[in-house]
Amino acid sequence: MNTKEIKEIYDRYVIPNYIRNPILLVKGCGVDVWDAEGKRYLDLFSGWAVSLLGHCHPNVVTAIQNQAAKLQHAPNIYYTEPQGLLAKYISEKSFGGQCFFCNSGAEANEAAIKLARIHNSNSGKYKIITFSDSFHGRTIATVTATAQPKYHKGFAPLLDGFSYVPFNDLEALKKVIDDKTCAIMLEPVQGEGGINIATKEFLHGIRKLCDEKGLLLILDEVQCGMGRTGKYFAYQHYDIEPDIMTLAKALGGGVAIGAMTAKKEIAKSLVPGSHASTFGGNPLACAAGVAVFETIEKENLLDDVKKIGKYSTEQLKLLQKTYKVIKEVRGIGLMIGIELNMNGAEIIKNCIQAGLFLNCTHDTVIRFMPPLNVKKEHIDEGLNIFKSVLSKP
Ligand SMILES: Cc1ncc(COP(=O)(O)O)c(C=O)c1O
Repeated sequence: MNTKEIKEIYDRYVIPNYIRNPILLVKGCGVDVWDAEGKRYLDLFSGWAVSLLGHCHPNVVTAIQNQAAKLQHAPNIYYTEPQGLLAKYISEKSFGGQCFFCNSGAEANEAAIKLARIHNSNSGKYKIITFSDSFHGRTIATVTATAQPKYHKGFAPLLDGFSYVPFNDLEALKKVIDDKTCAIMLEPVQGEGGINIATKEFLHGIRKLCDEKGLLLILDEVQCGMGRTGKYFAYQHYDIEPDIMTLAKALGGGVAIGAMTAKKEIAKSLVPGSHASTFGGNPLACAAGVAVFETIEKENLLDDVKKIGKYSTEQLKLLQKTYKVIKEVRGIGLMIGIELNMNGAEIIKNCIQAGLFLNCTHDTVIRFMPPLNVKKEHIDEGLNIFKSVLSKP
């Protein structure tokens, strides 16, 4: 099929809730993706940070192929090796908790919200505080947690029990906590909100408040987790630990999966019957997840992220000197935002036309999130395309 033919099918049969580029993608390998007409694109966005090891990393492909031939589905009333091994990796690389598996970031956050409530159900505490420009998902609970009115429009009434506070404003947070508050939930590095990094004082302050007032700290690492910032999890840059953490996107290296991990004494509140997911922790997705962890370890990718992230940020800051349209470059590891002083939609459209996948969020912030194993020559190639687009009158 060509792009025109598939577009006609979509127009007739697929709900138009996305703005799609008129490109039919057919295959990917590493940082490269091709369309049906044979045009190659350089993918420095990784599909919202999902393709952590690039497209179709051989280790992930082999793990999926092997598992697909052995056992694809098993209900959660039995044990499977991939689920156990993935839980072990997540726990050992983070804070030693226990995992619940699901299929997406929204579901992982939904599980975290439910856990925070059920864990506090005897005390009657149920309120959760989240932060401006956050993004936690599209289910009714997680869209309520998402403190951005544009995502709420048309979905009232939202879920009761959420309050919003400006990001990085500890004093404002202190004023909103009350005797019904059970948890504080945030992304240590906001993704969709424009690559906003929590300050050390803010995250330390939140941890201290949680300890003093008996609140749960939920960190949403759906976008910033899994090595993207140069450590497995973004909170590890701060020398604190959350009580609950959520993951998805990159966890399966391209396969749908979500996970919530919680300290054991909190996790035990999710007793049998309280929460579940038919496909959660399925052997296929978990085998892919195990292959992702193994590859990060074997290829020493966290060190590479630090180096190539530093190089990318330096190069982008150099561009800022020449191109006045760039207001700020900020980021951590390979999670980098290029803030423009204009709307970035046209620039992204032109980049895609020129063969470079990037994304613009929050109207003005270009998101640069290549795979962790990206090479310097890919960064240089991408920056050259980006420069040519910026140079257009
Ligand atoms: C930080 C964060 N949390 C949650 C989500 C929701 O994830 P999903 O789209 O897999 O439900 C996203 C998606 O962009 C995200 O960036």
